[in-house]
Amino acid sequence: MCHGCQVVRVSAVVLLALSLGIVNCDYSEAEQFAPAQTAAKTEAHTISDYFMDDVDISYFTQTNIHDLYNAITEQHSKTNELSDLPAGARSGVHLLQTGLAGPQKVAALCDLDADGGRWTVIQRRDDIEPRENFYRNWTAYRAGFGRLDGEFWWGLDKMSALTAATDRSYELRVNLEDFEGRRRHALYGQFSIAPESDGFRLHVSNYSGDAGDSLSTHSGQRFTTYDRDHDPYAGNCARSHRGGWWYHEKCLQSNLNGVYFKKYRADNTRGITWTTFHNSFYSLKTVTMKIRPT
Ligand SMILES: *[C@@H]1O[C@H](CO)[C@@H](O)[C@H](O)[C@H]1NC(C)=O
Ligand SMILES: *[C@@H]1O[C@H](CO)[C@@H](O)[C@H](O)[C@H]1NC(C)=O
Repeated sequence: MCHGCQVVRVSAVVLLALSLGIVNCDYSEAEQFAPAQTAAKTEAHTISDYFMDDVDISYFTQTNIHDLYNAITEQHSKTNELSDLPAGARSGVHLLQTGLAGPQKVAALCDLDADGGRWTVIQRRDDIEPRENFYRNWTAYRAGFGRLDGEFWWGLDKMSALTAATDRSYELRVNLEDFEGRRRHALYGQFSIAPESDGFRLHVSNYSGDAGDSLSTHSGQRFTTYDRDHDPYAGNCARSHRGGWWYHEKCLQSNLNGVYFKKYRADNTRGITWTTFHNSFYSLKTVTMKIRPT
């Protein structure tokens, strides 16, 4: 097969992937995708399988998704594997075929078990040392940061590429846990992130759950970081609350990318907050944000 032909074929696959919205952990869609890439399809591995065998694990103590992704992509090209979710795939980190950054693959944390499965995890906070820094700039929030096996933000570029397409609809589930072991969730029947040209504007609606709705008031806002102020508040809410979020005219009702404090911080409201669960001085223990096509 000539090199040029390969490129054409990959582009076609990428277009197909984007138009079907396949770059996510939805197993049923992965199956649809499979016939387009039969030639090189082999069983994908979770990252832990992968790392044990092939990769120097110390490499991944660095906190950068792109390092992770480049290393895995390199490994995959060596073994001529294409990523996909194979039958019997387990929850964990998978490489997904994507056209998000050209004909490449992207690492994603797939939750194939909890809450009905098929979830692509887009953010996670937990009591893990060393702490990930979430007080990051626009570039970092766009590209994503952190470790997929720890705390991370998957990246606004990927979230937008998945959910901005008009032919697909996504739902968002937010799972929360406090330091007393209480668990709550918020489900949004519609979730999308606009392209960067529109400031990665958030749209969520149709809340259900038991955490209370602390996100709908943020719907319609663009994303703000300390170096890119898109909020309608007089100051920069990312600076005053030490995160990156779709801050609104009063800054926030939730701040899931805030600073990891343990429980109460009476002196400030920079923590990981969801104020219909706990007030804005209570910083939560565990957060997961995950999406799937409806
Ligand atoms: C954003 O932060 C990263 C480090 O996380 C840094 O390398 C980069 O230069 C920063 N970009 C801008 C535009 O400040
Ligand atoms: C809103 O959610 C409920 C259940 O959570 C569902 O039955 C209903 O169809 C949803 N409405 C829209 C407009 O998606």
